[in-house]
Amino acid sequence: MIAVVSDIHGNLEALTAVLEKCEEIGVDDIVCLGDIIGYGPDPIAVADIAIERFRVTLMGNHEEALVTGKHRFNPYAAQAIDWTRTQLKGASGGRLSRLLGSERPDYLSWFKDLPAYVVDANRLLVHGSIYDPVHDYVDEPENPVEAEQMIQTLERDFSGFDLCFAGHNHTPFIATKVGTFFPHDGHPTFTLPPGHKAYICVGSVGQPRDRDWRSSFATIDGNTITYHRVSYDLQLTQQKILDIGLHKFLAERLQYGC
Ligand SMILES: [Fe+2]
Repeated sequence: MIAVVSDIHGNLEALTAVLEKCEEIGVDDIVCLGDIIGYGPDPIAVADIAIERFRVTLMGNHEEALVTGKHRFNPYAAQAIDWTRTQLKGASGGRLSRLLGSERPDYLSWFKDLPAYVVDANRLLVHGSIYDPVHDYVDEPENPVEAEQMIQTLERDFSGFDLCFAGHNHTPFIATKVGTFFPHDGHPTFTLPPGHKAYICVGSVGQPRDRDWRSSFATIDGNTITYHRVSYDLQLTQQKILDIGLHKFLAERLQYGC
């Protein structure tokens, strides 16, 4: 069983809870769609886990901002990525140092080399969308015109793969030619016929924005996609954000899932 996680955003408590859930349900392979850092208080610990545990980690727009310094972030995100860069530049020890045989691991080089997309069997893995794998957002179609555009995308541009797994929007849903489907408690599982084309948006581990504060991720088992929601120690993450001096908005939004 493969787990697809995304948008951890330095939230160690959320990632730890997700890993415990993966262990419980028998996940043996984890891929990550990017944005493992930014916003949250534990970039080093999360990077160490990604290096050690994830088969794939993609470049998200926060990793790009981390290594290039270029972005169009709001002030809260900009403050957080600057703080994150300071932490990673000064880091020593940790799992990366053991892997590299160095006392002063170069985290920024590791982030810089992350791939923007990966083709994995019949699946394309991206952070954003098939049109721009790092920056573009997959939006849920909200009117007939947008629904028709989604159908055209799936029919015309899903070539060489059937499913595209995406993060970045922090919202779990599946967009297909027959409509958009949202997972709900008690109805988290979707079985797609072989060859069916769909965007699978997996939601966010560390900063969900679908009005549900719990971590979101998805698992793949054959043709079946299952969404999972996992509670974590939200108050501890919030206190860490406040203690290191990041804006209180970044702590408060976690409890509202927005
Ligand atoms: Fe993100």
